[in-house]
Amino acid sequence: MAKFVVPKEIHHGLGSLENLKEIKGKKAVIVIGGSSVKKNGSLEKTQAFLKEANIESVVFGGVEADPSIETVKKGAEFFTQEQPDVIVGLGGCSAIDAAKAMWVYYEYPESTLEELAAPFAVKTMRNKAYFVAIPTTSGTGTEITGLAVITDHEKGTKYPIVSHELTPDVAIIDGELCASMPAHVTANTGLDALSHSVEAYVSNIADRYNDALAKDSVDLIFKNLPTAYNEPENLEVRQAMHDASCMAGMAFTNVWLGIVHSMSHQLGGTFGIPHGCANAILMPNVIRYNSKVTDKYNDLAALFGKCNAQEFAVEVEKLRDAVGVVPSIKAYGIDEKTWNEKIDTLAENAMKDPCTLFNPRKPELEEIKAIYNACYEGKKINVDGLTCTIYS
Ligand SMILES: NC(=O)c1ccc[n+]([C@@H]2O[C@H](COP(=O)([O-])OP(=O)(O)OC[C@H]3O[C@@H](n4cnc5c(N)ncnc54)[C@H](O)[C@@H]3O)[C@@H](O)[C@H]2O)c1
Ligand SMILES: [Zn+2]
Repeated sequence: MAKFVVPKEIHHGLGSLENLKEIKGKKAVIVIGGSSVKKNGSLEKTQAFLKEANIESVVFGGVEADPSIETVKKGAEFFTQEQPDVIVGLGGCSAIDAAKAMWVYYEYPESTLEELAAPFAVKTMRNKAYFVAIPTTSGTGTEITGLAVITDHEKGTKYPIVSHELTPDVAIIDGELCASMPAHVTANTGLDALSHSVEAYVSNIADRYNDALAKDSVDLIFKNLPTAYNEPENLEVRQAMHDASCMAGMAFTNVWLGIVHSMSHQLGGTFGIPHGCANAILMPNVIRYNSKVTDKYNDLAALFGKCNAQEFAVEVEKLRDAVGVVPSIKAYGIDEKTWNEKIDTLAENAMKDPCTLFNPRKPELEEIKAIYNACYEGKKINVDGLTCTIYS
């Protein structure tokens, strides 16, 4: 038996932002990041559509990348002062995740981040407000997921708050809002979406509902990401990437992710390597490693007229190169001394990451280290998981 949870309403397509005109409520707080939603006009349009729905709106701005608990608490105080019955998260995933966490503190002011980070600790939501998510990056799928990632900079830790209670009520997937994304953000977020669909497809709790979404999302990303990177104003392609990211989000919020994410979380936290970039460095070798226990990568290779995991891993490398992402951790600029000092901790923490539980192959610590070291050098790991070969 399994359960499939997604938002009650998902509006998608170019111009779908206008569905805001139909939503119900009295007062909205719109949570945004920096200036991108002001510059690209999406904030102004959002406020105008809310006005047509007779909803008054106020803005909480300034959410930083990888939002902090301090920002979340400031936002929650603003909510308490303004008493919204609708929360709108508008922007990249950082703004939307911060809005989700502010919403929790608004409903439960006594919460602590440590408590909330315990699995499924979030109590019943929607006592004060419901949640509308409007993403402007095509990557994390937060508009769909029951997940918010918040950072405690004092403790140097990123906390995932996980609960289906955090699944937005309304998601708006309008590719027009993404046309202003810079090329490197398009590349990193698009490769993050690819890692969601590939990891969900081979998850050890995968099922056919999620397989269908994940596989089609892989296909869409390979067909559209290079064009989105090279022709930012191509709106059809922006919509295809936005849909793909959303479909990958539907799959992974239900069947979870694997060790690409377990390992990438450590590279992000320790070296600040952008999440999608770290995933794209790790993914080909994780595919090679996992292929010993699953033949599901063969289906993904078949999308290219190929037949096995090794060939699919090469297609991922080609896509990574096509959108200007570095092929190794060393090439990102991490020196060997620093790498050797950190590798043991990185591997130990990756083993403990919750995503490891859903990987199709149960890794040993030494195998995680071997995959990390191969990815550091830009070498190919062998399917045994412990030896690697130099790229020809
Ligand atoms: N909630 C989830 O399901 C989930 C899943 C994976 C990762 N995450 C978290 O998501 C965060 C990263 O989110 P992200 O990748 O969306 O990046 P982001 O929100 O940090 O945005 C990256 C940059 O792009 C800019 N930007 C966003 N949209 C733009 C647009 N349309 N035009 C111009 N500039 C734009 C932002 O202002 C920012 O400078 C991390 O904190 C990560 O841990 C969350
Ligand atoms: Zn991810």
